[in-house]
Amino acid sequence: MRVVILESAKQVSQRSAKHICQVVEEIPSMTLGLATGGTPVGTYREMIEYYRQGQVSFAQVTTFNLDEYVGLPRNHAQSYYTFMHQQLFEHADFEQSRCHLPDGEAEDLSAACEAYERAIDEAGGIDLQLLGIGTDGHIAFNEPSSSLASRTRVKALTRQTREDNARFFDAPAEEVPKLAITMGVGTICEATEILLLATGKGKANAVRDLIEGPVTAQVPASALQLHPHVTVMLDEPAASRLARRDYYLHVEALQLELEA
Ligand code: PGA
Repeated sequence: MRVVILESAKQVSQRSAKHICQVVEEIPSMTLGLATGGTPVGTYREMIEYYRQGQVSFAQVTTFNLDEYVGLPRNHAQSYYTFMHQQLFEHADFEQSRCHLPDGEAEDLSAACEAYERAIDEAGGIDLQLLGIGTDGHIAFNEPSSSLASRTRVKALTRQTREDNARFFDAPAEEVPKLAITMGVGTICEATEILLLATGKGKANAVRDLIEGPVTAQVPASALQLHPHVTVMLDEPAASRLARRDYYLHVEALQLELEA
């Protein structure tokens, strides 16, 4: 696991967007796994800037989002469909027919989950998966106790997650949907490369458990310790509870020297 500690959230956005755009440049028809939430918004802004400056095209990229609320209409202001269109897709040259999100309105939710897994397979799997992390250690909506081998399915959100996400709904936690379709931990871990971003002090415990804790279903993000190609990009507050912070900084400095 490569742990990159940066001074600010802005640097996390810049560095992550640069990396994603480099991969797209190398493989224009790559498959990109995308995340929602507050953390990736800055990354998406930077990616749009690369596009506007003519440095990257997403026209051949296929995307798969991690999750979607169950029961919210697509055009609901807080659906992840709306989020992705507003924050990224409509500001660059993404081809709509290649941008996938789980169907949270499906009548048969388990069939929709299976169809999503099939679509990922048919696209040849995910080349690069972008992730955030929940304050309770979730990735996508795989809440604590999720099987580390899980596939795309419906999950009940924890009270903590609904409270954390209430800020987007501008409403009490009770109004945040109770269920979501989410890629499983097993689905996520099949991506060739994973880039997890975390910023802010509120993530410091989850980040410590992800990087330095035991691999446990109580912290679904800890499953990433078993993946061969993971980069975790953090700002200083998110990295503030890491016991080996100095070592990670040392390794990263050596890595940058090698890459120079
Ligand atoms: P956030 O959510 O980016 O809004 O903090 C991250 C997550 O829940 O995975």
